[in-house]
Amino acid sequence: MIINNLNQILLLIILLIEIGQSLAPVERSAHSSVLVDKKLFFFGGHSDHSLKKSVILDQIIYLDVSKPFNTANPPFEEISKTIPFGSSFATAFLSPQKNIIYLFGGIVKDEKRNNGVINNKTGKFYVFGGAIDPETGSQNIIILNDMNIFDTISLTWSKGSSIYAPLPRVDFTTTLLSNGIIVFIGGRETNNLVDVDINQLVLYDTTIDKWSSMMARGVILENRNAHSAVLTPDERIIIFGGCKGYNETILNQLAVLNTKTYPYEWSIPQVSALNSAPPLIYFHSATLIENYMFINFGQNYELKNPELQKPFFYILDIRNFTWVTQFEPEQPEQLPVTTNSVTPIATATITNTSLTNLTAEKSGQIGIILGAVGLSVVIITVAGFLGYKFYKKQKYNRAIPTAGEIQS
Ligand SMILES: *[C@@H]1O[C@H](CO)[C@@H](O)[C@H](O)[C@H]1NC(C)=O
Ligand SMILES: *[C@@H]1O[C@H](CO)[C@@H](O)[C@H](O)[C@H]1NC(C)=O
Ligand SMILES: *[C@@H]1O[C@H](CO)[C@@H](O)[C@H](O)[C@H]1NC(C)=O
Ligand SMILES: *[C@@H]1O[C@H](CO)[C@@H](O)[C@H](O)[C@H]1NC(C)=O
Ligand SMILES: *[C@@H]1O[C@H](CO)[C@@H](O)[C@H](O)[C@H]1NC(C)=O
Repeated sequence: MIINNLNQILLLIILLIEIGQSLAPVERSAHSSVLVDKKLFFFGGHSDHSLKKSVILDQIIYLDVSKPFNTANPPFEEISKTIPFGSSFATAFLSPQKNIIYLFGGIVKDEKRNNGVINNKTGKFYVFGGAIDPETGSQNIIILNDMNIFDTISLTWSKGSSIYAPLPRVDFTTTLLSNGIIVFIGGRETNNLVDVDINQLVLYDTTIDKWSSMMARGVILENRNAHSAVLTPDERIIIFGGCKGYNETILNQLAVLNTKTYPYEWSIPQVSALNSAPPLIYFHSATLIENYMFINFGQNYELKNPELQKPFFYILDIRNFTWVTQFEPEQPEQLPVTTNSVTPIATATITNTSLTNLTAEKSGQIGIILGAVGLSVVIITVAGFLGYKFYKKQKYNRAIPTAGEIQS
């Protein structure tokens, strides 16, 4: 059944590739992003400038990162197809074997909101914690601390160990190191949503299914949540943004965790060109593209008026921690001709009806498969920032869709 649908996806791809349309995207936060070949895709998000009825976007846009551009005029394109429903706080990840982008969880309805990471060697996707809303829009949100593993080869779910698992947690980041260890950074825990100690790292070893923790050395960092993280090729984790508590400013938005030392070590880089630095934002996405860390969208939590939010776009040159406005991709290498195929994207209509049977438990996880072919992809990291922010009585309540708002 899945296979038949995949065939349909492949058919759609060719049709869609030419239909991209340049656009100036509206502001958004809590979207999902994934780098596929030389295209950086953004799925959904929450926006007070939505052109549709719902504040939860179903839009898919992308940025072609094969060519230089300036952040004043970034070449965003829109996919003519939309996600079959509005989606925010989801995780997008690319399955290496089947060249499929999965969009997992997020705010749709009765779903989990959490943060995951794909191991592109084993094809396994790991998703921990998050929250479940038993009744859409209710205040009785349950924060989770179970590790769920989705095998993109067998399309089956399983559970990870619960021994020494951390407390229920949201708004953290996950980064997978090349040795198979997932590093959990920051976020908030328990139903009281207390910021976790960012120096106390939680680790999950995917090779042996074991949890551990480690007190990082170096700088004592300010705790934060709703930040982002990327992994550099030399296995430093760069975190950016987020806030303390609900809206308290953090002084050092950028910090670096060196995972080549033991214990791991936090430091604060010397940053240049602060006049081009981002404002205080959270629920943005971060993606490493060659030597550049892209910071996209998100919300400035200092701005009380949602109308003043902008489609933020900032770029950090990680070679010398300089904020830049111009993106200069490396000269394309002389690749063997066969590997360099077009990277198209198509939306397919496989929604939870076909994927519910894949869930290990009846938790209403939602998957969509967005087909793609011809990938020769390196995902440096699925920049995770997902989770759920509990804006009781605040405007984010509007981010929780009522049944009538779900777009289809
Ligand atoms: C920060 O959040 C708290 C709790 O929601 C709220 O009472 C306060 O007004 C907020 N402050 C700012 C500056 O937005
Ligand atoms: C940062 O490094 C880039 C690439 O090496 C260089 O072009 C740029 O001038 C450097 N910027 C600063 C402020 O040193
Ligand atoms: C998901 O599946 C359930 C039951 O199979 C169905 O009631 C619901 O409408 C589906 N939701 C979406 C968004 O397709
Ligand atoms: C899902 O599983 C149930 C039994 O658990 C089966 O009856 C149903 O046909 C399956 N649905 C699909 C779409 O495979
Ligand atoms: C998997 O990711 C690593 C970097 O994390 C990259 O070097 C490697 O090429 C990727 N493999 C595939 C099949 O995408």
